[in-house]
Amino acid sequence: MGEQGKIVHVGDLAVRPYEAKDRASVRYICYVTGYMGEPIDWQWRDAKSLADAFSGYYTDREPESSFVVEAKDGEVIGYLLGCKDSTRAWAPERVVIRHVFTRGIAFMPGTAGFIWRSARDIVADSVMRRLDHSTLFDPRWPAHLHIDLLPEARGKGAGAALMRCWLDTLRAENIPGCHLGTLAENHAAIAFFESMGFRKIGKQPPVPGLRSRDGKRLHGQLMAQDLA
Ligand SMILES: CC(C)(COP(=O)(O)OP(=O)(O)OC[C@H]1O[C@@H](n2cnc3c(N)ncnc32)[C@H](O)[C@@H]1OP(=O)(O)O)[C@@H](O)C(=O)NCCC(=O)NCCS
Repeated sequence: MGEQGKIVHVGDLAVRPYEAKDRASVRYICYVTGYMGEPIDWQWRDAKSLADAFSGYYTDREPESSFVVEAKDGEVIGYLLGCKDSTRAWAPERVVIRHVFTRGIAFMPGTAGFIWRSARDIVADSVMRRLDHSTLFDPRWPAHLHIDLLPEARGKGAGAALMRCWLDTLRAENIPGCHLGTLAENHAAIAFFESMGFRKIGKQPPVPGLRSRDGKRLHGQLMAQDLA
């Protein structure tokens, strides 16, 4: 299981390597699961910048490291986007800044509030010395991943199958470890990652701009797994 080119069946779902034809589905899933598996449009209403920031590198620069979940009717309903060398991936905040300059998203109604709130948070967090990097470059865990399934794909073992495909790929290439970033408040995802062998690492810094539905700040949580 997990070798490039193989299809893994999980009930009536199939897990297979990403193909170029899946790009639009991946970008759609990225947007509609952007807030801990739910739509994020109530605080970031711009699918293009969100998908560019969180799926663009993987689909466009390292497509051989991703896998998708396909339903019986052929629809793509989940993905794992992988990167073997995190120094090569695009930092999401840089992609967002590019959209600020090229598309003016700092002045668009669906994104302006988030961007200016982020700027305020960054200043406040710097003063309070709690600003932390969202990306990790540690030779122990050079690889990383993003995983998101549409609601209809969840709880059926497809996430575990995606993860096994990815971790088997990394082991086959002697990559020593893998990390991921999630939210400390995403308890279901953390339970899933722990069941897949990841452990929490680092602090839980507040994420600039992001808020819960009741207006509270949310916190980053890095997790890692040794593969050697
Ligand atoms: C998190 C996610 C990838 C898990 O994939 P999944 O296919 O639903 O998970 P699986 O069915 O393969 O579950 C594997 C194991 O993970 C754990 N797990 C999965 N979902 C869980 C949940 N909601 N609560 C607690 N544990 C959970 C269980 O140990 C489970 O094993 P079990 O079924 O034998 O109990 C998927 O639910 C998802 O995409 N959620 C929304 C998006 C998201 O939060 N992504 C992560 C952002 S960083």
